[in-house]
Amino acid sequence: VSVTRIPLRHPGGLTRILAGSGALDAARAELDAWAEGRRRFVLTTPRVLELHRRRLDELAAGGRSTVLEVPDGETAKSAEEAVRLWRDLLAAGGKRDSRVVVVGGGSACDLGGFVAGCFLRGVEVAHVPTTLLAQVDAAIGGKTGIDLPEAKNSVGVFHHPALVVCDARFLATLPVEELRSGLVEVVKMALLLDADLLAEVEHGLAALLAGSLPELERVVAGAAAVKARVVERDPGDKDERRLLNLGHTLGHAIEAALDYRGLRHGEAVGYGLLFALRLGERRGLPREVAERVRRLLRAMDLPALPPLEAPALLRFVSRDKKAQERGVAWVVPVDLLQAELAADVPLEELRAELERFLRAPLAAPS
Ligand SMILES: NC(=O)c1ccc[n+]([C@@H]2O[C@H](COP(=O)([O-])OP(=O)(O)OC[C@H]3O[C@@H](n4cnc5c(N)ncnc54)[C@H](O)[C@@H]3O)[C@@H](O)[C@H]2O)c1
Ligand SMILES: [Zn+2]
Repeated sequence: VSVTRIPLRHPGGLTRILAGSGALDAARAELDAWAEGRRRFVLTTPRVLELHRRRLDELAAGGRSTVLEVPDGETAKSAEEAVRLWRDLLAAGGKRDSRVVVVGGGSACDLGGFVAGCFLRGVEVAHVPTTLLAQVDAAIGGKTGIDLPEAKNSVGVFHHPALVVCDARFLATLPVEELRSGLVEVVKMALLLDADLLAEVEHGLAALLAGSLPELERVVAGAAAVKARVVERDPGDKDERRLLNLGHTLGHAIEAALDYRGLRHGEAVGYGLLFALRLGERRGLPREVAERVRRLLRAMDLPALPPLEAPALLRFVSRDKKAQERGVAWVVPVDLLQAELAADVPLEELRAELERFLRAPLAAPS
């Protein structure tokens, strides 16, 4: 058992993050102390229950616990599910000082965090993320939310978890597609903030994609720490944290254009990142840095980008909720560990570059 502790201080207090194989065992005493004498609601999904029943039983063993199930995947993030959970919480005796423990992927964490953040004006929550993406990103930082039919993540609150337990052993059952999707977010964070992490992903890529736990464990600890530091410096999502949207402006547009069915989130972000490299190269991003990231994304073997037209994608870009009153701010990498928010990329440049990109997304610009 090797467990890394990553404290995250935020305006409302402290999030204790534990990462590593066996983190859940290491956190057991802390979780029990936190929930001591209170009703504990364990919110999870059928898939996670099926694959990790023993760990869930252990979690629910201490004190008065109720297990609540939510659907797997993005469909969990609906207003209907939130209402159902609030009513279940009330029916089961949920109180202001009850505790919610979410065990699942980013979808369950987003929904569970939102439900906890609003129930009786806020009950404390702990996250036990079970996907790579949730361990390095979704479970950390206090952003919660649900989707409306019109738009993803359109309703939510900031609600920081008291504890985040990233146990690599959950990742052993994750299909390679989900590992790849999470790894794209790791590459994004590494390019922005951690050159050692980037090198680590490069060297360990084959093992990481094969689900090797020692490699995954190191990468999770590194990436979770990067995310935690950014959130500490910008808890309100006003400046630096927005850089984490690298690859997401186009990524979200791709997801929306494909009606959220064509590619996983991380895969779409992978293509968004490839496009951002192109914008970067027009603004001084050294070719060798861009090529390094492209090599990595090629080696990840993303599923092919379905046929899409530049004008249609740009319409989705301008609809994205990240579109500010003053136009869309693209996150543009200009060097290793250096990126800018560019609010003024001319539409003509975008359209032309996007057309070239769509013809050969993985190729270097000529
Ligand atoms: N709040 C944030 O800051 C933030 C950041 C990034 C992403 N997100 C959100 O996270 C969500 C995506 O999260 P995700 O990629 O974890 O997807 P997910 O939660 O939908 O999980 C993906 C799939 O993996 C399955 N799964 C979960 N754990 C498993 C395990 N251990 N073994 C096998 N299968 C398992 C799930 O059942 C699901 O089918 C999106 O809704 C996104 O908006 C939020
Ligand atoms: Zn993302």
